Amino acid sequence: MRIDILTIFPEMFSSVLSTSICGKAIERGILNVYTHNIRDYAQSKHKNTDDYPFGGGAGMVMLAQPIFDCIEAVKQLESDKTPHIVFLTPRGKTLTQSKVQDLAKHEWLILLCGHYEGVDERVMSLVDEEISIGDYVLTGGEIPAMVVLDCVSRYVDGVLGSSESLGDESFTLFGGLLEYPQYTRPAEFRGMNVPDVLLSGNHAQINKWRRQQAIIKTAENRPDLLEKVQLSEEEKALIESILKK
Ligand code: ADE
Repeated sequence: MRIDILTIFPEMFSSVLSTSICGKAIERGILNVYTHNIRDYAQSKHKNTDDYPFGGGAGMVMLAQPIFDCIEAVKQLESDKTPHIVFLTPRGKTLTQSKVQDLAKHEWLILLCGHYEGVDERVMSLVDEEISIGDYVLTGGEIPAMVVLDCVSRYVDGVLGSSESLGDESFTLFGGLLEYPQYTRPAEFRGMNVPDVLLSGNHAQINKWRRQQAIIKTAENRPDLLEKVQLSEEEKALIESILKK
């Protein structure tokens, strides 16, 4: 998979691109990630990338010209392919695990990081979709682009080793529940014991307990997610009792 990141702060990406699972995938050539400085495409004498908004108001707006030129230059790098162009913005559709899975199906993503108060709307004529990482406003699209890069890369074949599975995790577990509690050795730590069922070796019982725990966690922290999960009558009663508390 190829991911190009268009930003005025390419240096922000160096640690993400050189460490951990992403870094290893890049080093192994499974994931090809390139950053491009939008400022390099600015035509004005002072290499400006922003200007005052027409109509007045606070803040600055990123210029269309450097972004258009940057996107066009990057597209030329693989002229036989068509990238999927994503603009990171708090006004975008919220990123979810299923959106991550959809994004991972593209062989080439361009992530455009906005800044200041916004981006000239004419840039949207080049953009395939606008994505937000949540209902809060960051100073720019760089951290959201890192979030997209990180979670999309987990779906690229070969990026995760066998020990870092995609299976049992929040949002995809049991059709959309949050993750159940996990424990590792020792079985007793500072007077706190691992639940007996996990030491029992009875996998049917362990699975039942994990699903129940996932339901409890989801009911407590994200009851909105329960609407999409198929639940037995016993599980519905369990949720009722949790929500009453
Ligand atoms: N830029 C600023 N805030 C953002 C957010 N929440 N998601 C995506 N891009 C952003």
